[in-house]
Amino acid sequence: MTRGLRKGLTSYGDDGFALFLRKAFIKAAGYSDDALDRPIVGITNTYSDYNPCHGNAKTLLEAVKRGVMLAGALPMEFPTISIHESFAHPTSMFLRNLMAMDTEEMMRAQPMDAVVVIGGCDKTLPAQIMAAASVDLPTVVVPVGPMVVGHHRGEVLGACTDCRRLWGAHRAGEIDETEIDTVNGRLAPSVGTCMVMGTASTMACITETLGLSLPMSATIPAPHAERVRLAEDSGKVAARMAVEGGPLPSQLLTPQSFRNAMIVMQAIGGSTNGIIHLAAIAGRTEHTLSLDELDEIGRTVPVLVDLKPSGQHYMEHFHHAGGVPKLLKQLGDLVELDTPTISGATLRDVVAAAEDDPGQTVIRSTADPIKAQGSMIVLRGNLAPGGAILKQAAASSHLLHHTGRAVVFDSVADMAERIDDPQLDVNADDVLVLRNAGPKGAPGMPEAGYLPIPKKLARQGIKDMVRISDARMSGTAFGTIVLHITPEAAIGGPLALVRTGDLIRLDAEGRRLELLVEEDQLERRRSEHVRAPDAKGSERGYARLFVENVLQADEGCDFGFLRRRPD
Ligand code: FES
Repeated sequence: MTRGLRKGLTSYGDDGFALFLRKAFIKAAGYSDDALDRPIVGITNTYSDYNPCHGNAKTLLEAVKRGVMLAGALPMEFPTISIHESFAHPTSMFLRNLMAMDTEEMMRAQPMDAVVVIGGCDKTLPAQIMAAASVDLPTVVVPVGPMVVGHHRGEVLGACTDCRRLWGAHRAGEIDETEIDTVNGRLAPSVGTCMVMGTASTMACITETLGLSLPMSATIPAPHAERVRLAEDSGKVAARMAVEGGPLPSQLLTPQSFRNAMIVMQAIGGSTNGIIHLAAIAGRTEHTLSLDELDEIGRTVPVLVDLKPSGQHYMEHFHHAGGVPKLLKQLGDLVELDTPTISGATLRDVVAAAEDDPGQTVIRSTADPIKAQGSMIVLRGNLAPGGAILKQAAASSHLLHHTGRAVVFDSVADMAERIDDPQLDVNADDVLVLRNAGPKGAPGMPEAGYLPIPKKLARQGIKDMVRISDARMSGTAFGTIVLHITPEAAIGGPLALVRTGDLIRLDAEGRRLELLVEEDQLERRRSEHVRAPDAKGSERGYARLFVENVLQADEGCDFGFLRRRPD
């Protein structure tokens, strides 16, 4: 098999000349023939001034390079797109597939025998793993790691569960301008990803469970020296994989490992975004992710990790308690432990080496869970024939069985304009409905599902209401919030037919979400319904590609033509 610098030669119609030319140019950078004869490990550089979560990426990159060279291979760094949640317009989800395409094509185009992808901020690991699954090149994932916690007036703070909580308190008039400004400087006190069980932490835990990264890679805090050593070790593993030609992502991404990932997602109280990303990753393989299997898992797998937003602690506490290996140990037979990992060890080996921290209370046993059932449930019904997700671990138990009057917002802009209007006819028992915020509708499925409590109700002390939408929600948020309603309103899903004043019933136990309107009336509304035009700005370019090709949430919001078996 062709390896190293000889791989994927540029097409000149003369391979000898193509290699001659390639060598001539790379020698301009000072490489020797000895270096150029080695197996090559590509390393993605996702450092960006716009991405503070990846603020340690350069340090990790140098450590990976050191590991690759210590193992006798040649590291080659290359840039890819980098995406930060709060610096991505209109949404980071809109750009995830672009990053996946960029990463995939650069892996294919440039000669490398293995690749190390360094990522972490929410959409980056999914994009990189989607790319790796499509190329099926030996891949090691190095997450940048979670931030350390912040402190304010004796309270421990974390991005971004506490960002939302404290902003909510500010909206309700409980925190003044001066204090909220002080808090603003304390919520994200270091480089690294959000240190609650948000999407970044969820995806890092899933990645470790899938066997794509080394043990403890999900939880070591970003600023710790231990993470730099992990990066060096990852470089060594990648160099070995480059020589041995595996294991390949296709050998690691199996029905068993996807099931393990769903089990872990339930047990950590993971982000609902994790479902979308896992579905997208599965779509790049020969397998599919079943929402019904996720729900079935949730009925038997308890929430064991006591982390915000479902629990009390933060990622660094999860790490010191033993991290993912300890969690897998606590899950025991619920997990398929004979699945392989990049290092050649199985998850059983990883569990055997798990550290024991007697007295820790962050990773519970199945006999003493945080919640008896998993964190996420899948709802179906006449409002969500293709499914919807509710993170019950972060919901208010008194709202899990609730019937209320719909108060409908037609778009994110409509919601922003009217939600705080003192004249808005809304009370605490109503169901707030947001539509046209799905994959195609917004476009890019913004994290707008966490509709704010209308100010006039917040001031009365109302902390939660049933809120439903075709949008996503940050994994760091909490509340009785139904998300990812599929099909979305913008493609004519039933959500488009809801009118203010209709009754909506949420029955979490029965897994139902129903619009209590007679079918003949719904049929009439359907025949009168006029679909909204595509969002402004989507006439050309990537936005055009996006609205024409994005799939629904249950298929991971990938582009149809990028799946293993294009639709
Ligand atoms: Fe990057 Fe939260 S903003 S992980």
